[in-house]
Amino acid sequence: MQINAHIDVPFEHRLRFTRDVFAPHNAVLRELMEGEEIEPRKIVFIDAGLDASQPQLQRQIRRWFDRDELATITAVPGGEAAKNTPSLWQDVARQIAGAGIDRHSFVIAVGGGAVLDAVGFAAATVHRGVRLIRVCSTTLSQSDSGVGVKSGVNLAGKKNMLGAFAVPWAVINDFDLLHTLDEVNWRAGFSEAVKVALIKDAAFFDDLCDRAGAIAQRDMACAEPVIRRSAELHFRHIVEGGDPFELGSSRPLDLGHWSAHRLEQLSKFALGHGEAVAIGVAIDVVYATSIGLLRDDDARRVVRCLADLGFVLSHEVLADSRAVMEGLEEFREHLGGPLTLILPAGIGRTATVHTVDEHRMVDAIQRVADGALTAI
Ligand SMILES: NC(=O)c1ccc[n+]([C@@H]2O[C@H](COP(=O)([O-])OP(=O)(O)OC[C@H]3O[C@@H](n4cnc5c(N)ncnc54)[C@H](O)[C@@H]3O)[C@@H](O)[C@H]2O)c1
Ligand SMILES: [Zn+2]
Repeated sequence: MQINAHIDVPFEHRLRFTRDVFAPHNAVLRELMEGEEIEPRKIVFIDAGLDASQPQLQRQIRRWFDRDELATITAVPGGEAAKNTPSLWQDVARQIAGAGIDRHSFVIAVGGGAVLDAVGFAAATVHRGVRLIRVCSTTLSQSDSGVGVKSGVNLAGKKNMLGAFAVPWAVINDFDLLHTLDEVNWRAGFSEAVKVALIKDAAFFDDLCDRAGAIAQRDMACAEPVIRRSAELHFRHIVEGGDPFELGSSRPLDLGHWSAHRLEQLSKFALGHGEAVAIGVAIDVVYATSIGLLRDDDARRVVRCLADLGFVLSHEVLADSRAVMEGLEEFREHLGGPLTLILPAGIGRTATVHTVDEHRMVDAIQRVADGALTAI
């Protein structure tokens, strides 16, 4: 006997932009949690780095939830440590489980991509998944990682080896949270914006390049529309791209990521995700020119845009190009099936390739390492 049936599970993916989300008058969060007969429980986790730089935030959050049933607010160490330390996300899971959180309750995670990933993974697994609201506090989480439907932690030194596809209940981008980011983390998210513009939207790419210098100077009026558009492009790709749970072998948004994930690992996470993505995009751009896919002047524009944003594209881990090349197989293995890379074929256009000319890729890595990109 054979029984086959198609299972359709509807999901609602919600993205909101706001300022000062925990101000008493701000209704964004409240509206997202309305509609339950019994007041749902809430538990909040906050990125410890954010907590330290905005010490008033915990008080504000407590005040905001005054009338609601709030279990606890817990600070979770920020940065990649949140994903590299299993006891951390296990503690988060234990707290969620111990706080009487059920599948109608809300876990609210406030922080950067790493804390959102670690708390998100715990939330995706306790009771086989409880509702998660992400409040993104970094440029990278607002323009890319927080907007997605994945959560992952690192295992055996490999990025996101343990994780879940789980559509969050909602994602909130609060621009007012960004002002305390240090220079590196301020810049980080804009490499994902360059990436998605290069893949999908030539007009956005032009605009972003024009704004790059002002963004590097932390001009919020220039930066906000870029974060907004980047988030929107990532969001739309996930909901309209046809493969939100990545069942195929391709990840169209992961230009530059095969090397970026490897570079993070090789640098022992001294390189953050956004910085590594900037280098990864540069490598793929140089490679794409070497196989005749991308024009030299387009490649120069990409590299100049990244440099104008303040990214440093050479790094000592690039010296061992063979070690970097191992990222190709790790990337393939993570997705399954044949190797599938997205490369730029113009500004706003991509091509899919299944083979890589090793010699040319090693050469591309070395050229990025040498900082010889003006000679593309
Ligand atoms: N789930 C996904 O789909 C996905 C996609 C892309 C990237 N990611 C992951 O996101 C992570 C990187 O996230 P990130 O770039 O947001 O960095 P991060 O989460 O590592 O945070 C960087 C630092 O900034 C601090 N911080 C956070 N908000 C702050 C604020 N407003 N003011 C001051 N300090 C603040 C943190 O404590 C941390 O020390 C990586 O682990 C990456 O793999 C996940
Ligand atoms: Zn990324």
